[in-house]
Amino acid sequence: MLGFCWTKVHRSPSSPIGEIYVLAVRPTHHGRGVGRSLAEAGLRSLRDRWIERAMLFVDAANTSALGLYERLGFTITCTATAFSASV
Ligand SMILES: CC(C)(COP(=O)(O)OP(=O)(O)OC[C@H]1O[C@@H](n2cnc3c(N)ncnc32)[C@H](O)[C@@H]1OP(=O)(O)O)[C@@H](O)C(=O)NCCC(=O)NCCS
Repeated sequence: MLGFCWTKVHRSPSSPIGEIYVLAVRPTHHGRGVGRSLAEAGLRSLRDRWIERAMLFVDAANTSALGLYERLGFTITCTATAFSASV
C-alpha cells in the first residue's frame, strides 16, 4: 500500500461538512503526486455523498501537508495553540 486517505462526515441538519481525517503516503513515495491523488479521491468521495464543504486539521509545522492542502484550494479559517510543560 502506498498510502491512504480517510474521510469523515460531520452531520448537522443545516450544513454537513466533510473532513480529510487522515492522509498519509509511504515515505519512499513522497513528492510523486500520490498524496494529491489520494486527497482528490477523498474529496470526490465526499462530493459523491452530496457534501459541498470540507475541512481538516494540520500541524502548522507540517510544510508538505500545508503545501498540498493549499494547492488543493484549502485556506486557513482558524488556528489553535497547544501548550505543554514538563511536570
Ligand atoms: C503530506 C503528504 C501526504 C504529501 O504527500 P505527497 O505524495 O508527498 O505529496 P504530492 O507529491 O502529492 O504533492 C502534492 C503537493 O503538495 C505540495 N508539497 C508536497 N511536498 C511538499 C514539501 N515538502 N514542501 C512544500 N510543498 C510540498 C506541493 O505543492 C505539491 O503540489 P504539486 O503537485 O502541484 O507540485 C506526505 O508528505 C505524508 O504522508 N506526510 C506524513 C503524514 C502527514 O503528515 N499527513 C498529513 C496530516 S494532516
